[in-house]
Order: sequence, then C-alpha cells, then structure tokens
Amino acid sequence: MPAFKVIVVGAGPVGLVAGHCLTHAGIEFEILERRDDFDLNAGASTALWPDNVRVLDQLGLLDEARTLRIPYHSKICIRSDGSQISRSRMLAAVEELHGHPWMLFHRGELVDLLRRRLPESSTRIHTGKVVQSIQTNDKGITVTCADDTTHTGSMILGVDGVNSTIRRLIASQPTVPAAQKPSNTTPRPPPMKSSYVGLYGHSAYIPGAMEEGCFYETHARDMTFQVGVAAPTDKCYFACFKRLPHPTTAQHTFTDSEKDAFAASLADVHATTSLTFRELYARAQWSHMAYIEEGVATSPWSSDRIVLAGDAAHKMTPNAGLGLNCGIQSVVVLVNQLRWLLVQKPDSEPGEEALMGVFRAYEAERRKPAAEMVKLSATAMRAPAWRNRVWRFVDQYVLPRIGGDMLVLRYVFAMVVREGVPLDFLEERAFKEGTNGVRVVLINEFTVTGVVPV
Ligand SMILES: Cc1cc2nc3c(=O)[nH]c(=O)nc-3n(C[C@H](O)[C@H](O)[C@H](O)COP(=O)(O)OP(=O)(O)OC[C@H]3O[C@@H](n4cnc5c(N)ncnc54)[C@H](O)[C@@H]3O)c2cc1C
Ligand SMILES: *[C@@H]1O[C@H](CO)[C@@H](O)[C@H](O)[C@H]1NC(C)=O
Repeated sequence: MPAFKVIVVGAGPVGLVAGHCLTHAGIEFEILERRDDFDLNAGASTALWPDNVRVLDQLGLLDEARTLRIPYHSKICIRSDGSQISRSRMLAAVEELHGHPWMLFHRGELVDLLRRRLPESSTRIHTGKVVQSIQTNDKGITVTCADDTTHTGSMILGVDGVNSTIRRLIASQPTVPAAQKPSNTTPRPPPMKSSYVGLYGHSAYIPGAMEEGCFYETHARDMTFQVGVAAPTDKCYFACFKRLPHPTTAQHTFTDSEKDAFAASLADVHATTSLTFRELYARAQWSHMAYIEEGVATSPWSSDRIVLAGDAAHKMTPNAGLGLNCGIQSVVVLVNQLRWLLVQKPDSEPGEEALMGVFRAYEAERRKPAAEMVKLSATAMRAPAWRNRVWRFVDQYVLPRIGGDMLVLRYVFAMVVREGVPLDFLEERAFKEGTNGVRVVLINEFTVTGVVPV
C-alpha cells in the first residue's frame, strides 16, 4: 500500500471509529482533536443499533463492548403527571429481529473504549489541535492548527461535529477557477437549523424510583423526556427536549444559570412513573444544554482532498438514537471505497481526480439514507412531543392499543437497520442475522452485497 495518509479532524466517536476502520484497512492516519483531554464523564447515553454492533464485531471490540453495555428490555411511555400511556418489550425485541441487541452505553465509556483500543493511540491522536486552515496542492494537503503546528497528509476526513470548521472550509474552497469566481463573496454554508433545545446528562441512581432495564419516555405538548437506568454503573441518564418558540440557526453556548432556569421550567414534569425531573436534576453529575440542530449539509460533502462524515455532514434529533449510528455507517462506506481505490493501484498514490471520484460515490451512496434518518428522527421527536392534535390523540389512544412501539420497530427501524452496511474486508466473528435478515458481504476476491432473504 502506498504512503497514503488520512488526517482525521475530530476525535469524537465517529472520528475514533474511523481510526479503527482505517487501521484494519491498512491505511495510515492521524487524528487531530481540539480538546485538551477526553472528558469521560461527559455525555448522556448512546445506543448502537445492531447494524453497527456488527461493525464493532468486525473491529474486534464487541467482547469488551458487551461488558460496558447497559441492558434494556422495555420502553415505558408516560404523561407529564406520571400516568402510563404504554409499555412494551420493544428493546428486547431488537435482538430477536436482528440477532445482535440494541446496545446502550454511557457515552464516555464508549468513547473511552474506542480511544483505549485504538492501536498506537498515543502517537496517532493529537489533542489540543484546533484545525483552522487547510492548504491543498497536487501532492496532498497541509492543515494548520491554532498553535501554529502543521500536519501533512493525502486527504482530510472532517469529523468535527455539527459546528464543523471543515464544512465551512469546503464551502469556501474554490471549486471553480478563482478567475471565474465573483471576488466579493465569502461563501459560508448556512448553519443547521434547530427547532428544539435539549438538556441532557446523567444523575446518581435513585433506588426505587425506576425500574431497572426500562427506558422511560415522557410525552407532552411540545416537550419530551427520555430516561434510562444503568444497573451496573448506578447511574441514570436523562435527556429533555423542548420546542423553541421559533426555529433558530443561532450558535449559542448556554450558561449554567440558563440551564438551571430551563430545568426549573420542567421541574414538575415526571421523568418516570414516580419521579419528577426536579428530583432527577438535583442529583445530576453532569449535564449540558444545547440547541438540537437538524439537517443534512446542503453544501457538498467534499472538495479537493477533503471529505466530511458524522454530525459535520448530517445531524439529527437524538430521540431515535440514530445520529452516531448514521455517522458510523458513513465512515464504513467511505473506508470501504477508499480501501478499494488503494488496493487497486498499490504502487502509486491516487491523484486528486481518483480521490474525488471516491468522495462523490460515497456522498451519492450516503446522502439519501442520511436524509431519511434525519426525517425519521424528526418524527421520533415530534410525535411524543405532540406537535399537533393528531399526534396527541393517536399517541395516547391509538398507538397503545395496536402495540405502536413494536410496529414502529418492526416496520420502520428494522428496515433501516437491515440496510446497514458492514466493512467489506473484515470478517464478522459473531455473525447473526436474526429473523429480519441482514445485508451480507462475502469476503473473498469478490464482494457480494445483498439482503439475506427472510
Ligand atoms: C442527548 C443525546 C443523546 C444521543 N444519543 C444517541 C444515541 O443513542 N445513538 C446515536 O447514534 N446517537 C446519539 N446521539 C447523537 C451522537 O451523539 C452524535 O451523532 C455523535 O456524537 C456525532 O459524533 P461526531 O464524532 O460526528 O461528532 P462530535 O461528537 O461532535 O465530535 C466532534 C469532535 O471534533 C472536535 N472538533 C471540532 N472542531 C474541531 C477543530 N476545528 N479541530 C479539531 N477538532 C475539532 C470536537 O472537539 C469533538 O471532539 C445523541 C446526541 C445527544 C445530544
Ligand atoms: C456548537 O456550538 C455551540 C455554540 O458555541 C455550543 O453550545 C455547542 O455545544 C456546540 N456543539 C458541539 C457538538 O460542539
């Protein structure tokens, strides 16, 4: 393989998964991360759906992931006064359908697993590196960080989150010769729009206030809570979302007093059947308030040796637990294609044209499923937050009678998960196909992708 090197910008979960995929693909890389440290206490919980559990298996991380997983079986939907709307074994059913379970982690523990198990992580991950600018030439790219250090490689993978600097730099790259461009415009992609604001984090476990293995969801007008209990770690995880009076594209860092005021406005709303949010928030060990952006980057995902993935390219509401899953899928598709390009011509570095071909094919494959996940996640926010009277009625009186959560799992989520793509060059040691069937990749001289018939 040539001395091809990827500069990964951002060591969020998607950047770290990219590191693992590149390692297995035999592609050299380094990761530049803005933060000085990994804050392993940060974040609420993060779920992986079974299509990405398959990827963990391929990366050799599944055994350890199983020890960190917080097991859930049931979902309980309640009203703001704590009265129950419905209860189902939806989360246990995921495993029957797909073979692998729905795996929920403390976000910090998942990030820690990905960081710790990355080979040569101490020399490959560089913290305190705020990427500020990029120079491209015929041979490769050079990025410059805020501390004036430079890093050189063959391409950049921008996985720097929703406020992506790389997305901004792509949009301002000259895609047409400078001479043909109007000189007085500095194109900037519009930031993504938020219709909801969220407060999320984790609290100390409160004995007796919640049933273990249950994921609670509060349904109310223009707001929703999700709360889960972590038996092995004695924590519970919470996320509250409230509709904004007007959608905004503002980028705002909420202060602690804004956060506390927001929490106070939700204090009497039940987070579980017997517990109000006041009691939960009083025991918070970490929390964060942020706008919840939604959308797929309208500007191209790539230009001149630079390509985006993760929240930088596609951002969604968290209710369905799809954001990171979508990001991992993007990385899998990109690394599959990049690896094929490199193995085809092992003796020469691919030029910019060949790389752009891969980036365009990748974007063409991922844009549509990403947009569908954004839409599905939008509904998963708006239905329990009773965006209109129809939802308010259907959600309380129709769905519980027809097993709504199970139907949504079987006919909506299961269809998305089934289309998930694994890496096409690594075996699945714990291959499972469940009752729903999965896409398979036969690893050989030839790659065959298809859906196993049910
Ligand atoms: C409450 C909540 C619950 C969620 N639950 C789930 C779930 O259950 N399942 C799921 O799939 N998804 C979930 N998500 C979504 C998921 O967290 C995101 O999709 C995921 O974190 C995206 O990862 P990322 O690596 O693309 O971006 P990020 O996690 O935002 O990481 C980007 C990284 O890039 C770094 N960076 C930024 N700018 C620069 C720069 N200029 N130079 C260098 N580094 C830079 C940042 O410091 C950061 O470390 C949830 C989100 C929230 C808010
Ligand atoms: C994006 O920027 C806003 C405003 O600076 C901040 O509050 C938010 O936490 C950032 N999001 C991420 C994921 O870094």
